[in-house]
Amino acid sequence: MNQIFEIKDLVYSYPKAKEPTIKTISFTVKKGTIFGLLGPSGAGKSTTQKILTKLLSNYQGTITYCDKNLINYKKDYYEEIGVGFEIPVHFGKLTGRENLEYFSSFYQKRVDYVALMERVGLADALDQEVSQYSKGMKVRLNFVRALLNDPKVLFLDEPTNGLDPKNAKIVKDMIKEFRERGGTVIITTHLMGDVEELCDEVVFMNKGAITEAASPRTLKLQYGKKEVRVEYLENNELIKKIFKLENLSESDEFNACLAKDIQTIHSGETTLDDIFIKITGDASDDATTTPR
Ligand SMILES: Nc1ncnc2c1ncn2[C@@H]1O[C@H](COP(=O)(O)OP(=O)(O)OP(=O)(O)O)[C@@H](O)[C@H]1O
Ligand SMILES: [Mg+2]
Repeated sequence: MNQIFEIKDLVYSYPKAKEPTIKTISFTVKKGTIFGLLGPSGAGKSTTQKILTKLLSNYQGTITYCDKNLINYKKDYYEEIGVGFEIPVHFGKLTGRENLEYFSSFYQKRVDYVALMERVGLADALDQEVSQYSKGMKVRLNFVRALLNDPKVLFLDEPTNGLDPKNAKIVKDMIKEFRERGGTVIITTHLMGDVEELCDEVVFMNKGAITEAASPRTLKLQYGKKEVRVEYLENNELIKKIFKLENLSESDEFNACLAKDIQTIHSGETTLDDIFIKITGDASDDATTTPR
């Protein structure tokens, strides 16, 4: 079985909303991959995650998980999935250890959460009240919480938001290791660098609809310029030349360039930041979503 999720014609309206928040979206998620749900603030990414984690029901369309309709799963589904919520929810008056003990008690399977806390640099904070944790510590605790039941699928909503680069790297490494063990990840992030590093496939959502679906590499090639830019020094002068990629090897001028004192050489694929802006325009609900 290659597909773990198949989402077909999903429509969702919040009670009292004038129009649907999710407007007929379809996509599939392959088992053992990291799948990115991207798009501006208010696009419907978290709503989609909440539907897939069965926190929201009353949707239209069909969601198939492991060849079975999601509505046919009951509590057993929560044994299979781990969820890292957008806003970390913990008991502030309890310690990290007490929080993890409490949330572990919901599951049949248990993992060594002390080892996970060590990995994310929180071993010394295990017996500290969570209300005394910094923002980044809470984010890491939230991530450990998502792994407590040794899930097959991880839903992560902005998992590196608020983390310094060192801790962000630890979390990203753990996400990649989860995939290497055969796990599937559905991730939401505004950080295009993380997308590039982690995601095998992405969908761009905009105002509740999907506008693009592909691998980051395909998108970069599709939206980029099929050209190569060369800078070389000639008589102490910096010369800049642009060549079309098509039939590049037949270009005498390009071949002559290669014999020069080349300073830089770049192909013209674009960045995911630029693609994000191109695809989503100024569609965000607010000004908080300017990509990195
Ligand atoms: N509980 C709710 N009741 C009514 N409307 C909601 C509710 N939660 C979210 N919405 C609306 O649904 C739309 C999509 O919200 P959602 O949280 O899914 O966006 P998002 O893509 O995750 O955005 P962000 O990047 O800011 O996290 C927004 O217009 C939001 O106002
Ligand atoms: Mg969100």
